[in-house]
Amino acid sequence: MTIIAAITRDYALGRAGDTIYHISADLRRFKQLTMGHPLVMGRLTFESFPNGPLPGRRNIVVSRNPRYEAEGIETQPSLAQALASAGSDAMVIGGGQIYAQAMPLADVLEITEIDATAPDADTHFPVIDPADWLPVGTSPWETDPRSGVRFRYVRYERREKAILAGSHPA
Ligand SMILES: NC(=O)c1ccc[n+]([C@@H]2O[C@H](COP(=O)([O-])OP(=O)(O)OC[C@H]3O[C@@H](n4cnc5c(N)ncnc54)[C@H](OP(=O)(O)O)[C@@H]3O)[C@@H](O)[C@H]2O)c1
Repeated sequence: MTIIAAITRDYALGRAGDTIYHISADLRRFKQLTMGHPLVMGRLTFESFPNGPLPGRRNIVVSRNPRYEAEGIETQPSLAQALASAGSDAMVIGGGQIYAQAMPLADVLEITEIDATAPDADTHFPVIDPADWLPVGTSPWETDPRSGVRFRYVRYERREKAILAGSHPA
């Protein structure tokens, strides 16, 4: 299972129910990477989407409320049940509560690193421990023309799997 997230240098994910930055190039890449994959998300992340479910993908929403429903989504009562329903090509798209629970189960992290801090953020990504995670691909820094913020993409693989698969000589 793959986790995909955009995080600042201080691991911030969101503030007041929204993401910290809206970087158009990153949103296009998110769409490209996730298209066709079953997406697993927390209820609050789903409710942050301005236009409802993301098209072309199963939207699997985790909620403890057994009556929670909305058009175009599937609700699951736990992350484990959501992941079982989604299968191995699941992508976990947030937010903070769901990332924290999914991190020990993930094989790959597709991270957009945003070269900024957000001290007033209220939602954070778990720390990416270098003992567990190996960066296997890093793009050059780009600058978002609208906000002026720099960002780049880093793919991490779980260290033991990356080494077994030969992604790294160690
Ligand atoms: N930067 C990024 O890449 C990124 C990505 C996604 C989201 N975000 C941001 O993250 C924030 C939302 O994250 P969040 O941590 O507040 O919420 P969240 O993880 O999106 O959703 C939390 C909700 O998920 C359900 N849930 C969580 N754990 C569960 C479990 N074990 N079993 C059943 N249901 C469970 C609960 O729903 P019920 O209350 O219905 O039970 C809970 O209230 C927003 O600011 C959003 O913009 C950022």
